[in-house]
Amino acid sequence: MGVKQDIEHLRKIIEQHNHAYYVEDNPTISDVEYDQLLKRLIELEEAHPEYKSASSPTMRIGGEVLDQFEKVAHDMPMLSLANAFNADDLSAFDKRVKQVVSNVSYVVEEKIDGLAASLKYEDGKLVRAATRGNGTTGEDITHNVKTIKSVPLTLNENETLEVRGEIFMPKAAFLKLNETREKQDESLFKNPRNAAAGTIRQLNSKIAAERDLDMFVYALAEQDHDQAASHEMVLKQLKKLGFKVNPSAQRYDDITDVIKAVETIEAERGDQAYEIDGVVVKVNERHHYNAIGYTAKSPKWAIAYKFKAEEVMTQIDTITFQVGRTGQITPVAHLKPVDVQGSTVSRATLHNEDYIKEKDIRVHDFVSIKKAGDIIPEVVGVIREKRAQDAPVFKMIEACPKCHTTLERFGSEKDYYCPNDDCPAKRVETIIHFASRAAMNIEGLGTRIIEHFYNEGFLMNIADIYRLHEHRDILIKRAGFGVKSIDKLLKNIETSKDNSLEHLLFGLGIRFVGQKVAKILAANFKTMSALKKANESELTAIEEIGPKIASSVIAYFKQDKNQTLIDDLTNLGLNTNYTGKTLNKGVLSGKTFVLTGTLTTMTRREAKAKLEAQGATVTGSVSKQTDYVCAGQQAGSKLEKATSLGVKVISESELNDLLNA
Ligand code: IVH
Repeated sequence: MGVKQDIEHLRKIIEQHNHAYYVEDNPTISDVEYDQLLKRLIELEEAHPEYKSASSPTMRIGGEVLDQFEKVAHDMPMLSLANAFNADDLSAFDKRVKQVVSNVSYVVEEKIDGLAASLKYEDGKLVRAATRGNGTTGEDITHNVKTIKSVPLTLNENETLEVRGEIFMPKAAFLKLNETREKQDESLFKNPRNAAAGTIRQLNSKIAAERDLDMFVYALAEQDHDQAASHEMVLKQLKKLGFKVNPSAQRYDDITDVIKAVETIEAERGDQAYEIDGVVVKVNERHHYNAIGYTAKSPKWAIAYKFKAEEVMTQIDTITFQVGRTGQITPVAHLKPVDVQGSTVSRATLHNEDYIKEKDIRVHDFVSIKKAGDIIPEVVGVIREKRAQDAPVFKMIEACPKCHTTLERFGSEKDYYCPNDDCPAKRVETIIHFASRAAMNIEGLGTRIIEHFYNEGFLMNIADIYRLHEHRDILIKRAGFGVKSIDKLLKNIETSKDNSLEHLLFGLGIRFVGQKVAKILAANFKTMSALKKANESELTAIEEIGPKIASSVIAYFKQDKNQTLIDDLTNLGLNTNYTGKTLNKGVLSGKTFVLTGTLTTMTRREAKAKLEAQGATVTGSVSKQTDYVCAGQQAGSKLEKATSLGVKVISESELNDLLNA
């Protein structure tokens, strides 16, 4: 085979694996094998630029940076939908349709809470992706859409067509993104839709490539509605072409069944791995579309039933103040526990003083609570009529609740900080962060035990972790810690010394040095002593390191106490070199898992990553060697196989228990 054929063959099989993983949710090879194929393709394309192609899977890595977004005029307008808010509205919709055509069925689909996009294919190749914009003109987002792994770059048939669908960020990806942003001191996205929109609006496609966007395609944009007889068939056809089509779509002949289906979806709305904000009901028979007609903005053959954002009333018992690792103070409302969309909420963040003042929130107020973006509980507002007349106005604290040092507020920042480096809350949080999974990954050294050891005087700073063994005899006598658990902990602490430099760097909690930056710094400078000596120009010479991070790193190493801490850790035997690996083995080390069916608290990909982080191996097929099969919803043949082979089958919540053990 010639190089050209090699390249084409690689592209084809990589895209087949992509489809299996991201569309079918059924991986066909291991990540390592996939990476090898992709690496080989990148090498070949670099060596042979004459064969470069805009629809190569290497395009998914991103890297294209735009100066600005180009405007795109839609060939066919991107319409919106009229809304329904209750069963009566749906019945009225049915009546309006029936006035025109008597014999219709309906397709009921989840309304995905993301942003609409249009994809144009020519001869089976993705040539352009655009946002909805005002419906007539949108913006060209091809560079970012190409990074969405479930969007085919090449169709299974050489067709020229345009499709419409919803780009969204799965809940798990949203939570992960915000977690990372929090660690990097970046502002958080309010909900998955904002995160998806913010990602699609990036000029640099590398950012989108890192953020796990996804897309369901739900319509074919074509003038002539009789090409496919029914919407059901369109969905089938889209699936056949390689698109990810939401499996929830279901046909009903009668509006009463439609209403039942809508109610079921609403009741189970929290169960999906992505957010839905309603249900779309569409007439199935497409040849009736023109007869039923359109308004200026929307088709009359479809309607969007909008969910009520579930708001629940409860009362604030107290407002307390959390002190973070950096000293940042966060007011927290402690609530009388209430059930909001399937989970019990007893606390809600009040963000900062300005937020509380703006809403005039007071202790003992009755408040309405809603899950912001359906995930994070938020106080929506106060029910003023129920407030006691003498309820005192909220007053921000002036001193740290832990060490009583006067709080500081910098310039126009909204947050207050405790400036005391010896503040016990800051110290404990610093140790918790250091031991956490993403940092030094010291199994068994969690929040409670750290607080306990701190209060007992065994653990006053990070370095004390590595001196804990000196107190072994006392520790094993303490109630609650047996010889076994203390020895296990001490062993885990010992093992953590060998972690590669990036873990230590991240663990130190240097401002703006999140997990990713820590890795970049470690990989570039290789040793702590080299990094310590780095000046601004050496730091900013690295692509991802800007002046903000550089000056924070320099300032950190300038401080004597940090210098002392690092010397201390080095003398205690911690590795300060980049070795590129995490040596602390997880609890699930050596165990083999197979994931099947739909998971609700995370995507399968997330589950896989979490399991692998604990040392487990996740494979695609069940055999006698499999230790566990985790069966999500609608688990199929793999579950049957597990049962027949006598392999242990666990539920999603049991999986979570194992992961959190
Ligand atoms: S059909 C002609 N189906 O909801 C209208 N829309 O207000 C085509 N959406 O802009 C839309 N899920 O962004 C349709 N299954 C679904 C949808 C869906 C989400 C969004 C879409 C549209 C808005 C309608």
